[in-house]
Amino acid sequence: MIIDKKTEDDGVIMMSIKSGEKETAPDKEKEASGKDHVTILAIESSCDETAAAVVRDGREVLSNIISSQIALHTVYGGVVPEIASRKHVEKVNYCVREALSQANLKLEDIDAIAVTYGPGLVGALLVGVSEAKALSFATGIPLVGVHHIEGHISANYIENKDLKPPFVCLVVSGGHSHLVVVKDYGEYEIIGQTRDDAAGEAFDKVARAIGLGYPGGPKIDKAAKEGNPDAISFPAAKIANAEYDFSFSGLKSAVLNYINIQRMQGDDFNKNDLAASFQKAVVDVLTEHAIRAVKEYGYDKLAIAGGVASNTALRQSLEKACKDNNISFYSPSPVLCTDNAAMIGAAGYYEYMKGVRADLTLNAVPNLPLGDRERRFHGRQSL
Ligand code: KG4
Ligand code: ZN
Repeated sequence: MIIDKKTEDDGVIMMSIKSGEKETAPDKEKEASGKDHVTILAIESSCDETAAAVVRDGREVLSNIISSQIALHTVYGGVVPEIASRKHVEKVNYCVREALSQANLKLEDIDAIAVTYGPGLVGALLVGVSEAKALSFATGIPLVGVHHIEGHISANYIENKDLKPPFVCLVVSGGHSHLVVVKDYGEYEIIGQTRDDAAGEAFDKVARAIGLGYPGGPKIDKAAKEGNPDAISFPAAKIANAEYDFSFSGLKSAVLNYINIQRMQGDDFNKNDLAASFQKAVVDVLTEHAIRAVKEYGYDKLAIAGGVASNTALRQSLEKACKDNNISFYSPSPVLCTDNAAMIGAAGYYEYMKGVRADLTLNAVPNLPLGDRERRFHGRQSL
């Protein structure tokens, strides 16, 4: 992966991600015939990244532009929804134009426009949805609504050309912790999920408590590399009698209690050891549940998805556990684990091929459930 990064005057970081593989220029003649390739323009704005990408046949990324607002939210210790929406409005046209230009294509070369319409922050989602609808309305290009988590799962298709359903996917992001059986493209069965905080949320809250700041996940990942994961023993983030569910709020409270007790006793604590021990408790339970799910459901492939899937310790732990259990392990590059539009283009392609189309009533659905095909077909939702 080649990441071309530049910080703009307003603090936003613009990134263009290239695979590093030899790029094949799109064959415009073939595309004009509409037969050989399907080219999707994808838009993502569900949280604090404005992103646009051009993806061919679901797996080949022709361009991938991400405008990250992280620096703007860091001062507040978390994402401020109104700031996120306002920045999306400023950046979205630029991202779309840049994605088309880097793919060396024009809007008329595009077969469908895929956009994230949930779950996420409503004001943020509305920007991408409105942009996609306006483009579709003006050009007549079909519109496809994409579920953000289906996008994360589909990020696995981009660099693993051989990966096909069925497989088990561990989805761990800022808002979700799900164990999912991907039965077919766009067909999901949720077999386990968090009962309280999502894994990424736990990383963010613990990072804040130990003074590492925002965004918590990458900071804990980095601090843990300098710490001892066995220094402090924290409870496993499990639920009794629910073999695939998770609970991270008890673990988070245990970390907060540990900090308070240390402070009351006038003792200091080692941030790196605390980060490593907390991270180990999360990684252990995620690994154990995921491996057991693959074996008990009789599959031989495990994929990971979502921002927390970029965690170094989690990737290493799953890779080793898969090797020990003869399971093929798939993971997107870290930059494709966090929010981006290439993954929305990958998911959008399989939806498009199934005939899924949204009409111009498509709306943002902040709490859209995974695999809710009914809503996707009709486009219209009530909030
Ligand atoms: O998937 P994502 O980019 O956005 C959502 O859809 O939520 O995930 C963001 C989450 C945040 O909670 C962030 O702290 C976490 O992913 N994250 C990480 C790492 N990188 C991002 N967590 C642990 N280790 C990381 N390296
Ligand atoms: Zn996400």
